[in-house]
Amino acid sequence: MKVNPKTYNELSRPMYILEEERLRKNLQLIASVAKEADVEIILAFKAYALWRTFPIFREYIHATTASSLYEARLGFEEFGAPTHTFSPGYTDYEIDDIARCSSHLVFNSLSQFERYHVRAKLENTRLSFGLRVNPEYSEVETLIYNPCAPGTRFGITSSKLPATLPEGVDGFHIHCHCESGSDVFERTLEHIEAKFANWFPQLKWVNFGGGHLMTRKDYDVPRLIHALKEFKKRYPWLKVILEPGSAFAWQTGPLVAQVLDVVEDHGIKTAILNVSFTCHMPDCLEMPYHPAVRNAELVDEDGSAEGENTYRLGANSCLSGDWMGSWRFDHPLQIGENIIFEDMLHYTTVKTNMFNGISHPAIALLHPDNELEVLREFTYEDYRDRMD
Ligand SMILES: Cc1ncc(COP(=O)(O)O)c(C=O)c1O
Repeated sequence: MKVNPKTYNELSRPMYILEEERLRKNLQLIASVAKEADVEIILAFKAYALWRTFPIFREYIHATTASSLYEARLGFEEFGAPTHTFSPGYTDYEIDDIARCSSHLVFNSLSQFERYHVRAKLENTRLSFGLRVNPEYSEVETLIYNPCAPGTRFGITSSKLPATLPEGVDGFHIHCHCESGSDVFERTLEHIEAKFANWFPQLKWVNFGGGHLMTRKDYDVPRLIHALKEFKKRYPWLKVILEPGSAFAWQTGPLVAQVLDVVEDHGIKTAILNVSFTCHMPDCLEMPYHPAVRNAELVDEDGSAEGENTYRLGANSCLSGDWMGSWRFDHPLQIGENIIFEDMLHYTTVKTNMFNGISHPAIALLHPDNELEVLREFTYEDYRDRMD
């Protein structure tokens, strides 16, 4: 079906739409950073795992990063390359399969390394082992996204690392960014080197994690490339890896929903939609943040504005709090018209759920000629079969 991506008026059901042109633009930028800085940039599945689009990704990148058995399998079986895998806790019942599907295995603690590295190597002799280390420095302000907050369960601090690393450890993995700029990376790098450079001569690689939002409009890409190049000058034997997720799918497409009804209470009008924040845009409630809505202006985050053409946007679940903000439109909303939530691909599409048995929006790919290809529609069986 051909569609108009400005309005998506051809749609009458909710749909996540990945716009191929925008995705390729992000991929081109990421591939050019990797080339110029001579680093490897891999995709973090936790942010984006629409595997039907992996053939596009493979034109630009060669590996992915996993944080669980299923992500590792997805990388190995669908992306077609073993994954860089990190999990805070490997288990007896999954470690063999994870080892089989991985090229790099990062341990969160020395005790996990001791427990599993021999067994993992028996399963896959080509595995390279790393340790997650905690630089005790992160500029991430939202506590649930700060992996270095006091009491964190992630990584080993420098005071707990032995001067000589256990035999078989090839790399360090450090993740302390979230939607961060390259200035943050620069400052963080100083702390990382101050804490850990003593161990670098024992390593082959270092992975600087995710959160490098290099595809955001105001991101200073040359500054990132410069910082990486300078780092490589200081430690030329180290292979450098970055594993962003959001940066790949940043601003690559909307969730298109429709208005089902308009209700009113105490002067507050709510447009009831055929999507749910808790089911289909969970980060809006978790992060929390207010999504951009096309052709509408957010006028009140608390959702109590009463003006003309001003509506709360409310979900079709039974959760009382499943609504957001007050947006002002330039006309009274009509039943059936589209509400377009911008930038709903990264994290959203991997985190949705089927709470309340609410129909899950389809997932579609918009080709450059405006042909809309529906990749996946969800059915009653998808809901039922998770609870067999
Ligand atoms: C270890 C690790 N790597 C990579 C990422 C991807 O981060 P982002 O999607 O912010 O780039 C995350 C996100 O939480 C992470 O925890």
